[in-house]
Amino acid sequence: MKNLKTLFIVAAAAALGMAACSSDEHRKNPGKAYAMDMTHSRAYDAYTANPNFTDSQTSRMPVMGTVARDHALPDHMLEGDTNGHKTFTTSARFSEAEVKEGGRLYNIYCGICHGTALDGNGPLYSSGKFAAMPANLVGGAYLKMPEGQIYAAIKYGKNMMGSYASQLDPMQRWQVIAYIKKQQAGAGGDAFALGTGAAAAKSTADTVHATESSATPAAEGGSTGAHEGGHH
Ligand code: HEC
Repeated sequence: MKNLKTLFIVAAAAALGMAACSSDEHRKNPGKAYAMDMTHSRAYDAYTANPNFTDSQTSRMPVMGTVARDHALPDHMLEGDTNGHKTFTTSARFSEAEVKEGGRLYNIYCGICHGTALDGNGPLYSSGKFAAMPANLVGGAYLKMPEGQIYAAIKYGKNMMGSYASQLDPMQRWQVIAYIKKQQAGAGGDAFALGTGAAAAKSTADTVHATESSATPAAEGGSTGAHEGGHH
């Protein structure tokens, strides 16, 4: 009996409490406000006009050179610096899976011209539809081409070859290069040195310093990422 009474009191109190919460009056009257600018925020709402900025926009762009989380740091390759391209490299090492991914990307973006055999005899060229002979990456001077020059070719293009910077992010460029370098090693080029990275793609992204964001030219001279290529 005593328990039942307690239960009733608790239930009644709970019901009253809830009613109090949902009462309109209570909602409309927040009580005393001691700090008006905390009770009523004076912050500008997103997408509203803002007199503090010359373009009147409240929503701001990220600071120049900002690197999105999980994205690699900008590279510091400069377009005209052909000497620098020769020593431009990466500290990243690539797992077999990543080299394989590089091969997949190569066959999508490069194979059409350079050929699945990397001999410069891809279907676009051999069909006669593309006049310029693509580089034979497994022969002659190209066989031992420094990886930085391959990176430059991908990033900036080369004569009749367009830039692939917008199709391949820096990580993917290095994966493609790792694939090319591995094929070159098999064709008599230098021993494959970009491999043995057991790291998964994500942790590689943290260690790769060769990255660029075309939207952030200021990053080229910034201090966001030391590049081990020997030039900035
Ligand atoms: C539309 C055809 C085409 C595609 C696609 C293409 N290339 Fe090329 N590539 C060429 C041609 C043509 C040349 C020769 C340019 C020259 O030396 O005049 C060349 C040259 C190169 C060179 C030598 C650069 C140098 O400094 O001499 C490399 C390395 C290269 N390509 C890599 C790639 C990679 C990697 C891809 C894929 C991301 C790719 N190419 C996609 C046509 C293409």
